Amino acid sequence: ISRYPVDPYDRVWIPWADPKEWTEISTTRQVQSDDDDYEVPSAVMQTAVTPLNASKNLEISWDPVPQPRNPSPGYFIVMHFSELQILPSSAVRQFYVSINGMALNMTAAKLYYHGTAVISNVKPYRYDKFNISLHATTNSTLPPIINAIELFSVMPTSILGTDSQDVSATVAIKDKYHVQKNWMGDPCIPKTIAWERMMCSYTIAKTPRIISINLSFSGLNGYISSSFANLKALQYLYVQSSGSVLVFIW
Ligand SMILES: *[C@@H]1O[C@H](CO)[C@@H](O)[C@H](O)[C@H]1NC(C)=O
Ligand SMILES: *[C@@H]1O[C@H](CO)[C@@H](O)[C@H](O)[C@H]1NC(C)=O
Ligand SMILES: *[C@@H]1O[C@H](CO)[C@@H](O)[C@H](O)[C@H]1NC(C)=O
Repeated sequence: ISRYPVDPYDRVWIPWADPKEWTEISTTRQVQSDDDDYEVPSAVMQTAVTPLNASKNLEISWDPVPQPRNPSPGYFIVMHFSELQILPSSAVRQFYVSINGMALNMTAAKLYYHGTAVISNVKPYRYDKFNISLHATTNSTLPPIINAIELFSVMPTSILGTDSQDVSATVAIKDKYHVQKNWMGDPCIPKTIAWERMMCSYTIAKTPRIISINLSFSGLNGYISSSFANLKALQYLYVQSSGSVLVFIW
């Protein structure tokens, strides 16, 4: 599994294999393109799957994960591609992508060595089951491949996001100390997945504020980041390590 700090956005990348249908291609060279706005880590892009039977489509299926108030959430699907092999000049790897039979790319994706490509939907899709199919064009001499796929489910929320200065400060703290917790997305909302070791105040019609952070036993070292001073609503900061207890009370 790869995540922060390998992934700057702490996306959680989990290997996905289907040995009966897919085979793996990999490279040891770095696979990172300056054009890739998604900044997928090289370690993730360095492997890809392709159908075992080269004349078959590459099929990927999954069931949506129901949410408490949303049994059938919408999904954004972001697929990442890169050619990992140096191909003979006559070889072509070109394919279309469809989700539950609906074409996503009108122009066939053609992969080049060292290049990266991204295909995604622009509006969330809602289905009981998702079937992605990648099929080679008639011109293609090689089967489709895929290196990585991001799945985002849409969570409706009617409450306000965390105070933006609190967000910037906690993101700076997370970066400074390489905090390895569930610190991604908004710190205080949704309440059920608020950042671990953090307490927020929730007042109706006001943005949530961070009032306490517990970074005890988190392997911190170095000086205390000045970003803590930007948490204007912070009341408690716990930074205990073995033996010593330090509690800062504002
Ligand atoms: C997805 O694929 C499965 C297996 O091929 C098939 O039974 C199912 O009907 C497909 N579902 C959709 C929504 O296309
Ligand atoms: C396939 O090749 C033909 C002839 O070179 C070309 O006209 C056509 O546009 C190609 N099709 C695709 C999908 O690239
Ligand atoms: C802070 O977290 C540590 C480690 O999980 C825990 O032992 C400690 O009780 C927490 N302190 C407070 C004040 O919540």
